[in-house]
This record gives sequence, C-alpha cells and structure tokens, in this order.
Amino acid sequence: MRTCRWVPFLALAVAQAPLAAAAAAQEQLRVTSPNGRNEVTVGINEGRLYYAVRRDGRSILLQSQLGFELQGAPPLRDGLRVVGSAERTFDTTWTQPWGEVARVRDHHRELRVSVAETGAPGRQLVVVFRVFDDGVGFRYELPEQASLRDFVITDELTEFAMADDARAWWIPSNRPRLDRSEMLYASSPVSVIDSVQTPLTMETRDGRTFVVIHEAHLVDYARMFLRGTRMEGRTLRAALAPWRDGTKVRGRTPFATPWRTIQLADRATELAPAVLGLNLNPPSVIENTSWITPMKYVGIWWGMHVGTMTWSSGPKHGATTENTRRYIDFAAANGFGGVLVEGWNVGWDGDWIRNGSVFSFTRAYPDYDLPGLATYAREKGVKLIAHNETSGGTVNYERQMDSAFTLYRSLGIAAIKSGYVADTTPEGHSHYSQFMVRHHRKVIETAARFGIMLNVHEPIHDTGERRTYPNMMSREGARGMEYNAWGGEGGNPPEHETILFFTRLLAGPMDFTPGVFDILLERGTGRPRRPEESRVRTTLAKQLALYVVLYSPLQMAADLPENYEGQPAFQFIRDVAVDWDTTRVLEGKVGDYVVVARRERGGQQWFVGAITDEEARTFDVPLTFLPRGRSYIAEIYADGPEAHWLTNPLPVAISRRTVTSASRLRLALAPGGGQAIRIRPAR
Ligand code: NOJ
Ligand code: CA
Repeated sequence: MRTCRWVPFLALAVAQAPLAAAAAAQEQLRVTSPNGRNEVTVGINEGRLYYAVRRDGRSILLQSQLGFELQGAPPLRDGLRVVGSAERTFDTTWTQPWGEVARVRDHHRELRVSVAETGAPGRQLVVVFRVFDDGVGFRYELPEQASLRDFVITDELTEFAMADDARAWWIPSNRPRLDRSEMLYASSPVSVIDSVQTPLTMETRDGRTFVVIHEAHLVDYARMFLRGTRMEGRTLRAALAPWRDGTKVRGRTPFATPWRTIQLADRATELAPAVLGLNLNPPSVIENTSWITPMKYVGIWWGMHVGTMTWSSGPKHGATTENTRRYIDFAAANGFGGVLVEGWNVGWDGDWIRNGSVFSFTRAYPDYDLPGLATYAREKGVKLIAHNETSGGTVNYERQMDSAFTLYRSLGIAAIKSGYVADTTPEGHSHYSQFMVRHHRKVIETAARFGIMLNVHEPIHDTGERRTYPNMMSREGARGMEYNAWGGEGGNPPEHETILFFTRLLAGPMDFTPGVFDILLERGTGRPRRPEESRVRTTLAKQLALYVVLYSPLQMAADLPENYEGQPAFQFIRDVAVDWDTTRVLEGKVGDYVVVARRERGGQQWFVGAITDEEARTFDVPLTFLPRGRSYIAEIYADGPEAHWLTNPLPVAISRRTVTSASRLRLALAPGGGQAIRIRPAR
C-alpha cells in the first residue's frame, strides 16, 4: 500500500485498527534540536522503521524508510519493533587548527533507537539521530550479535522523502564510464532527479528552507549518491558506489555507517560555513598540529594545461631544475609558502592516464635535481609540494607509499598533491567504492605519521575527515580552473563559482586554483586545445574575489609567474589570508551571487570577496562586522570601467579609502565580475 507511506504514523495506525494504533503510538519517538525548531520523529509502520524531519512544525522529510539489503540474508528492514531508546544532550565548543572559523560549537540532542526483528533471526539494529540547530545527522550501528557477524551490504535502503518539490542544484552520478565529480551543475525540481552526487542543495518552493543532504565520517564504507525514485515523486534514496562484483559494503559487527546529514537553514547565506559534518566526525587524533600550516602556493602546473609545458620528459618538460628554481625564487620573493611541481617523477611518458602501475614516487627525471631543489627551497624558506599522480593505480601507490613518504620527510617536503585520474580502479571497483575509501583513509593516516599535508585531486568527496586528521587539507572534487584551459563543454560559465559556494564547498575546502590573470590565454606560448573555447569566463577582479569566496587552506596562485609581472592587482593575492577566525556570508543566492567577509586567523584584517554570474550587480555593504571605534584602510580591487567577462575582462580599478564600522561600501560588479577588498587597521 504505497500511498499509506505518506500518512503520519499515528493517523495511519488509527485508520487501520485502534489496537494497532496504540502499539504504533507507543513506538513513536521524538527528538528536537536545542532551539526546538528541528524535530525528528522515528517510528515503526507495518514492521518497517521510518524517520521524518520537521522544522518549525513544517514537514521537511516525510516518513522515510531505513534499513539494508544484505547478501545471502533477508533484508534488515521487515518485522521490526523498537526494543529500546535513550536520549542525551551535548554541548561543547572546540577549536579548529585551521578553517573557515576558529571555534565550532557542537550543541545537539541525541536519540538512540534500538530495534530488533520480531521473528527469526531476530537481528538488531541501532539508529542514532543527532539533532542540531543547523540540521540532523543519523547513522546506523550494527551491534555485535550471533545472528549477524560478517555481512555484505548490497543496498542501503535509506530514503529522504522530500515533502516539497524543492529546487535542487546537482551534478549527475550516473555517467557509466565517467566516475567523476567534474561536471557542470544543473538545477531542477527534486522530483525529476535521476541520480546525483552530494552535497545536494535544495531550496523549498516557498523559499523558506534550504536543505542540504550529504554524509559525514566516511571511513570504511562506500560513498553515497542519491537516486530519484520517480515512481514516488520526491523521494530520494541512498545509492552506494560498488565493488567490482556490484556489492557495496563488506563488514563485520560491531559496525557503524557514516552519518547521513540533512543541513537546514532559513537562508542561503546561513549555509556556510557548514559545520554539521565536522561535528559528526571524531576530534583530532593529531596532538601536535604545528606542522600543519595553511599556505598559498604557486606551481609548475598551469603551463601543462595551457600547453607551454609537458609533464613528460622532452624539450618542453616543465619540472626541470632550472624552472623549479625560478618558481622557488618567485614564491620566496612574493611570500608564498609552497611550490608545487608536477611531472618531476618518472612515469609520465606515453599516455600517463594508463600509467597507474608505472609511476615511481621516488625516482626523479634526470633533469630534476630533487635533493638539490629541496635544499634550495629550504634555504629560501619555501616548501616543495610533491605531486603524486596515481592514475588510479592505488596498489602501485600503496606499495611505494612508505618509502616515498620517508624520502619526502628526509627532504623536508611537507605536502603532497595527489591525483586519481581514472574512471574505475584497474581492479574494476568504482572510483568511489569502499575499496577506494579504504585507500584514501590509508593515505591520510600514513601521511599523518610522516608529517605530510594532503591536497587530493579526483578524491572521494569530503565528509569532514579534516576534523580527525587536520593534515587532510584540501581537495578538488568538482570542476576547477583547469576546465577553462581545456575548454571542454565550453569551460566554466560565469555562474559556476556562485553554485560551487552553495554546493561542493559545503562539504569542505576546494583546491579550485584561482588567480589566472591571463584571462584570454594570450600570453602563454602554447596552443590552447580548443582555441575558440579555451579562456577564463570571469573578469580579472573576480579571480581575486575567489580567494575569499572559495575557501581552501592551500590556495594556489595558478597562473604562470610571468603573467603576474607588472600587475598591480597581484598585490591582493600576496596579501590575502588563507586561514580564518570568522566567516560571514553577507549576501548570496545560489547560482547568482555571493558576498563573503572573513577575518584572518589571529589578526585584525578582514577580507571581502564578492562574485556574480553573468549579470552585473550592485551591493551596499555595511561594515558593521568591524569593531567599533577603530579606523581601517579598505584596499579595493573592483571591476574597472566597462569591464565585462566576455568583451573586456581585464580592467581592475584599485582604490583606497578610510572606513569604520559605520561605513558602507558600494560594490559594483560587472557581468561575470567580482570585487576583492582588504580591510586593514589604519596605523
Ligand atoms: C588532474 C588534476 O586536477 C590536475 O590538477 C593535474 O594537473 C592533472 N590531473 C595531472 O595529475
Ligand atoms: Ca581534476
């Protein structure tokens, strides 16, 4: 009886039989957020376990099913009854070693619901709900029990039955041979969603609530996607990335799944910084985090994408000793902490995407003096960032990891950018399978042991690992700057970053690699792959604003050093902070615009970043976030006269004015434009 599922628990039971009603009513449990606005109800309906979510008394998620399908055993779903429950309240505040905000409050009420099958085999399942003012998290726990030891999950049956046909912003997850997250975002009513990735951001049709579904603390499980169940309209169902044989998760009790998270906010501007997922991850296991240092970096990188250099050996090899020294000098002269070098290690020759079993992570090409450059970097006060492209060859990587990390440590290389350009693993498992989740965890833990910070490309999406392992700093995991060089699908449209901020970035930091000044790719000597498409679709001022808007503790100045020469606007990239005490989203509309103000960690400077899509916009920004009674200098990098992303992207107007907390700034953004402001105390 499908339609029954939409009726509230009690009403359904009453309609069926008064006795059943009493039983059903008894089994309804309820927990609210500390401010009382968010409410989760949990209950049994016809032997199945459901939850529902309300905010201010309005339904957000209708009755949504919970449970699993298992290999070689009946589904853990039917004939259930509640056998116990417990509630408690938490309230603690913790400090992040780095982040969008320094202090995070974890204030929630927890409800543990234990259920068991009424008939044989009588298996038990616990679902733990944590209800915060900013949303809900829940996870399954499978206690140790005689009737459930080793198990294989073939499907997770979790549903998210949206009460409203909300507008959703999403990237697909159903491209059979493109197991990636680097697509352009689409927007549609939730009812027409087929298969999408998380975080999935939705806005109810009345505009009153923003709902973001994602996951937290993904350690030994498959990554979750969401599948629309068209028959049931607005109901989304968890879909897990498979092992080669199509199964999803292998485990042994006692076992806990990742948290499924439902972030809730009244306004788009309240979605960031998102801390719900962080609060659902365990505290840091790294006691001394002094070696984990947010930094800006430059790198031998953009040249490969615009065609002036190659990863492979040969006349255009980018990672030469001489070229790397030039980048180290540039970094040292401009206050950058790191220099990334791609293509330094043997394995890039031929079709590198197929070289997953060939890459060496210790042997450098003969024209790259690894120890000499490490010494040179150290003398100049700059950190080399080693690049480890695996092309999905995790076995090859894991085999070399200890020796590679030992080498890096001995050379003072404290950060790695890794990469997983591959659709499935060579073994045939999904890029996002439990197999890969385990691999990524192993890398994080090993890197922590060796004192190495990580920046992962083609990653599993961020589920808040950085709380437990703050060396897990940044990731790609969405369409970054590189697509502008390649021009594929027309590059990144002007609205792209205004969607990223409210979707991908809610999961965690992104290594987007902003700061391309040669917007039209005219100054490189290489040939763009698609001359008519390869260019950046922003104004130059918007490139500056992205440093404030798109958060990453490792923030790249992506362009070739020569393209920053003689550019007064480069001063903003030199000045901008990468670690924040406070973040305030002042204005924002998904896909249209964002204005963010952030105060640097441990300092008095504020930075403001404003970006717009293809429409020109004006914002009137009161500086009430500044402390009262103090004078500041605002250094303003605005779109210049007649600036336009398409026809005139380069003009930047740089000005200065004295401001106080009583001042207002009028920000005029060109089509596809932006504005970046540094606000420093006046001396
Ligand atoms: C894709 C990454 O996103 C990019 O940054 C890198 O240069 C290439 N892979 C090569 O590893
Ligand atoms: Ca990539």
